[in-house]
Amino acid sequence: MNTRVLTGITTTGTPHLGNYAGAIRPSIQASTRPDVDAFYFMADYHALIKCDEPERIARSRLEIAATWLAAGLDPERVTFYRQSDVPEIPELCWMLSCVTAKGLMNRAHAYKAAVDQNVARNVEEDDGVTMGLFSYPVLMAADILMFNAHKVPVGRDQIQHLEMARDIAQRFNHLYGRGEELFVLPEVQVDDEVATLPGLDGRKMSKSYDNTIPLFEGGSKAMRAAVMRIVTDSRGPGEPKDAENSHLYMIYRAFATPEQAAQFRRALEEGLAWGEAKNLLCERIESELGPMRERYAEFIARPQIIEEILQAGAEKARRISKPFIERLRDAVGLRRSVALDAPDTPQATGKSKGKAARVVSFRDEDGKFRFRLIAGDGTELLLSEAFDEPRSAGVAVKALQQPGALESLVHTLDDEIRVEIDGRLVCRYPAHLASEVEQALASLGN
Ligand code: TRP
Repeated sequence: MNTRVLTGITTTGTPHLGNYAGAIRPSIQASTRPDVDAFYFMADYHALIKCDEPERIARSRLEIAATWLAAGLDPERVTFYRQSDVPEIPELCWMLSCVTAKGLMNRAHAYKAAVDQNVARNVEEDDGVTMGLFSYPVLMAADILMFNAHKVPVGRDQIQHLEMARDIAQRFNHLYGRGEELFVLPEVQVDDEVATLPGLDGRKMSKSYDNTIPLFEGGSKAMRAAVMRIVTDSRGPGEPKDAENSHLYMIYRAFATPEQAAQFRRALEEGLAWGEAKNLLCERIESELGPMRERYAEFIARPQIIEEILQAGAEKARRISKPFIERLRDAVGLRRSVALDAPDTPQATGKSKGKAARVVSFRDEDGKFRFRLIAGDGTELLLSEAFDEPRSAGVAVKALQQPGALESLVHTLDDEIRVEIDGRLVCRYPAHLASEVEQALASLGN
């Protein structure tokens, strides 16, 4: 099995150059490795903890998605989704909350920092602390455990949250696993190689210090204007500069080959003027970001495309989370009662003796039309794709019921059987269910 790498990006801000070099670029690079299955998601439920401005949350989700896509993330390869499009995550969060010791959350850094500040300000300890902030590590554990991630690349400030996720997973496994490991214990991955860029004032580049260089927003003009504000020392043109300790050089290095960096360094040591150095830095950054910025602008101008990509991502994610949450529900005792779930035009008629399969048509959350094929014992054999019109769903059901329909309509792809009618995908189901589906279709209407 490939290594599952998962990380989340809280959607409260606009990505800056530091985010790009420190997180986006290395994550995209990691996702291209053949032995990695990457799960990258927008932590928009987390964003609600810090931000109560709906417009800002919405805008940030869009900008962050556009940034990752423009920077080269391949949504075919990576499972790229929004947390809030996967309802199994908050459900799991609740299950985990019920096994998490409150004392463990009392020790979380973010919460403790809030308490410390309150104490320093002489106000009540929990002043302004919401339950969202307090139990945030549980939601993060749910993000990770939902997909049984092996590795979670994060910044240092998140190490404690990973320890907590492991704790919670262990406790859950112990309580409900019955000797079987329900959750993989995730490992934190803190990459020291990755560039931490200094900001305009030399402190770590961060939105909270207001010292960032914008990535795509505002175009190359805004980027350039920020670069011109990078603080340098007062050595004039011709005077040798201390390249090693200059922020300018550190940023340059993050965008250059070792040869280019060495050359830049030498030029500074030989007296290159700061103003000139800033021009060179702009050119360097621009050569990497220029083409991405154009793609970014295209994505921002067409949010519909982003939406489609994210919907497809959520669907991909839910192919894992839906069956897994069923298993977890089972484990904790929230299992479905088969008897109640069984056909509701039932047994009582005597005719079917509960054996006949049936098709149930319904309208899904998005208002589209779908059907399920339910076996005689009440288990779901397949769920159709979504149709805009109830009629088209009906036509598909009819076609499936034709004797021998499956022979002409199915395509097998890996372990999946896909049924297509006139070139349109109607439904798909795992290959191991093939004979059951066949039998069920044959028994329909008998
Ligand atoms: N808390 C993380 C941060 O602030 C973001 C995040 C949310 C996350 N859920 C996650 C990171 C799951 C890794 C895995 O950076």
